[in-house]
Amino acid sequence: MENQLKTILAEVKKAVAKATPADYETLRVEYLGRKAELSQILRQVKDMSDAEKKTLGRIGNEVKTEITNLIETLNSGTGQGIPAHFDPTLPGIAPEGGHLHPITQMTEQLVELFGTLGFSVAEGPEVELEKFNFDLLNIPADHPARDEWDTFWIRNVDGAEDNILLRTQTSPVQLRYMQDHKPPIRIIAPGRTFRYEAEDATHSSTFNQLECLLVDENISISHLKATLQILVDSVLGSDTKIRLRPSFFPFTEPSFELDAWSQGKWLELGGAGMVHPQVLKNGGIDSHKYSGFAFGIGIDRLVLLKHGITDIRPLLSGDLNFLKQF
Ligand code: FA5
Repeated sequence: MENQLKTILAEVKKAVAKATPADYETLRVEYLGRKAELSQILRQVKDMSDAEKKTLGRIGNEVKTEITNLIETLNSGTGQGIPAHFDPTLPGIAPEGGHLHPITQMTEQLVELFGTLGFSVAEGPEVELEKFNFDLLNIPADHPARDEWDTFWIRNVDGAEDNILLRTQTSPVQLRYMQDHKPPIRIIAPGRTFRYEAEDATHSSTFNQLECLLVDENISISHLKATLQILVDSVLGSDTKIRLRPSFFPFTEPSFELDAWSQGKWLELGGAGMVHPQVLKNGGIDSHKYSGFAFGIGIDRLVLLKHGITDIRPLLSGDLNFLKQF
């Protein structure tokens, strides 16, 4: 049996010397495959006496290692593990690239658009004080309009002067900005907002708004209307049918709701209006000299309309198969 093993080894040496990498697979099957003579011999070892097992087992394994190494020289080619059948002329496999989330894409498009109109970007915290989210926006604690905004309250820190909440709208950024800046003011504030409300096809408990605030002398509703028209034309196309519907917000007077016609019905896109004189005063601005407009548009809703999506919920689901489409 030992001689048989030596004969096989000699045979392999000869065969490898004559072979090219193309013969790798044939030789591997012939000398190392399940039906190879070597495999058959090694299978017999288990039935031998202990003494035979010891010597033949060892020799058998040594020969197998040597044969494997010999045949593998055909596979490694340069000795660096490149397969024999490696074809450098084949195109590579491109790694799958990611892309920006459709909400981020929309936000960037809006920031760019408003940049060309002379607006800069302002920011405020997502975890906000009650006074900015409500009181200074002319919504005191006992105001019934507070019911419009189902709020996630944050447990109060002992001794804190103000209650803390997850902002229900981006409008608090208006106040934060007015308190630190003098007119003319021209800002947008895109950001995440949160409401403790039941989710459905057009409502999510986490969503995004684009706040816009312009304060200057002689600002009128026509400036507001023109700005909204530019926004819709640019993002959704100029053939999009929109309407301004009279509405109520404590921080604007008069107030409107902006709707867009989509898939056979009106979809509410945002709230808008002329900044209430009391809000200007709360922001430290002379309401006799200055006036302004403001609006807050649902960015997620714009994404729905732009892509013809009928349900808002998959947008935040993290479902890559869904998101890859946009
Ligand atoms: C507001 O939040 C006002 N702050 C808007 C405003 C700003 C008015 C400045 C006047 C001046 P409203 O609650 O209607 O208004 O929300 C505005 C928009 O946010 C809605 O039209 C809708 O597009 C979007 N939105 C509101 N709730 C949700 C929700 N749960 N899921 C997705 N989008 C929502």
